[in-house]
Amino acid sequence: MRASEPTFPGSLGSFDARTTPVLQTDVLVVGAGIAGVSAALAAADAGARVLLVAKSGLSETNTAWAQGGVAAVLTDEDSLDLHMADTLRVGVGLSDPAITREIISKGPESVDWLCSLGAEFDRRPDGSLELGREGGHSVNRVVHASGDATGAEIQRVLGHAIERHPHITCKFGTFVRDLLVQDGRCVGAVLLADGDALAISAGAVVVASGGAGQMYRETTNPIGACGDGAAQCFRAGADLADMEFVQFHPTTLYIAGASRFLISEVVRGAGAVLRDRDGHRFMSEVHPSAELAPRDVVSRAILERMVETGDTHVYLDLSGLEGDPRKAFPSIARICAGFDIDIARDPIPVRPGAHYLIGGVRTDSCGRSTIPGLFAVGEAAATYLHGANRLASNSLLEGAVIGRCTGRRAAEERESVPLASTEAGPSFDTPAPRLHLDDMLYSLKSLMWRQVGLVRDEDGLAEARERIALWHHYLMRASTDRPGYELRNMLTVSALCATAALERRESRGTHFRRDFPQRDDAGCCHHILMRRAADGSIEVEHGPPVPPSDAP
Ligand code: SIN
Repeated sequence: MRASEPTFPGSLGSFDARTTPVLQTDVLVVGAGIAGVSAALAAADAGARVLLVAKSGLSETNTAWAQGGVAAVLTDEDSLDLHMADTLRVGVGLSDPAITREIISKGPESVDWLCSLGAEFDRRPDGSLELGREGGHSVNRVVHASGDATGAEIQRVLGHAIERHPHITCKFGTFVRDLLVQDGRCVGAVLLADGDALAISAGAVVVASGGAGQMYRETTNPIGACGDGAAQCFRAGADLADMEFVQFHPTTLYIAGASRFLISEVVRGAGAVLRDRDGHRFMSEVHPSAELAPRDVVSRAILERMVETGDTHVYLDLSGLEGDPRKAFPSIARICAGFDIDIARDPIPVRPGAHYLIGGVRTDSCGRSTIPGLFAVGEAAATYLHGANRLASNSLLEGAVIGRCTGRRAAEERESVPLASTEAGPSFDTPAPRLHLDDMLYSLKSLMWRQVGLVRDEDGLAEARERIALWHHYLMRASTDRPGYELRNMLTVSALCATAALERRESRGTHFRRDFPQRDDAGCCHHILMRRAADGSIEVEHGPPVPPSDAP
């Protein structure tokens, strides 16, 4: 049976208030990266009882895996205007100047806050913070720790802060199946903890469950990055925005059979160069900023080079760096050494990988979604800071700034509502299909990589959407456990991404259409919003034209 249009039910399962155990909390936070923990701490400081749940432990968040750092204006050669100008230029017309100003102006305060929690960032001999440089930044402004282990350091201190807080309870290894919405307000969620359903009655829910890199074959993201938050919020009826914009990182360690591992842009910022198999440095022919050109430009150039040379990857050469790169980038050196690569001498095999979902749940500057009681923050959200392309190291900053504001607002605006049972989902009169979930997952990843990846076109996107609709249709009748639910979330987010990519008939930022290779400011400089229609299909709304920004 064919299902050419993707349709999605409003929940993955039903909820029976008489038989499911219910736990009460003031604020439920989903996700334990910088955005979720910042929100949890702020809500708890504002007097709310907070329950923080996450699928994995603290070491498996995108925050913990971040290498580059936190972008902030901290020197006299830098300024709010300069950081804004860099962010808006990289965002290619779709970054909102007001939110950008609000977030960037809180950079120094956010770095101080992380230091006050105990974060030990790298410093110069005079005690000032040592600042790195990444693509798109016109000055050094990236705060980092242990060279390339910034995220791990931030996650360490955030983890201690939540452990110490008397109003925060954590439940790791917990999967959120569905958000509960009653009379238009989000009132809690149904979780799967140790395989059993548990309902949470919450005055407010904050979704901070990160991105969706796992929908692609190549990704820098941890295994849990399945787009759960975006999919849950979509099913619940919230607006999502800009789902076509997926940022690919140009340099992921590529060795067949090995886990993919990010090779930070800071390495290129320090002078590492990209070469093809013949040792030819190709980026200087592609863009005036060579290896520090915007990520989408570098990623596509690598892909083209791979096609031209018939190779599976290109190489990152650190041999010309000043000083010993093994000291500057100890985590990268350690991982590469595991494959007998000495980064001081041997070029690192790299290729692009899905890195950051720019689109997400549409929110205001304090994380409010279009559903009262439901907040979203971090990679799960779209505040319009990143526009069509994200300036490196702006996202940890956004997570801290918007996360703290979101936590305060969630605590202030919480409203306790008794939970009511939901209706049973659709029943099917055909037998459940026999599925091989791993095969479907890998087929999805390959499809997304080939047809909804770095280079897209109408035919490929339309075919991908149709195939995703069919897989979802099969899975809906067959899956009632966590792996099946996660795959349904990935299929949902993939369908949203393919749909938005079909709608945007131009190339802008991370979204490149070979059939519309130019940017179309007259026709397309707007956001694309999507929501679940009453019949379960994807309703698309093209937002109003975004005026050209004369900011800062
Ligand atoms: C990197 O270290 O290259 C990633 C930083 C980022 O994506 O913000």
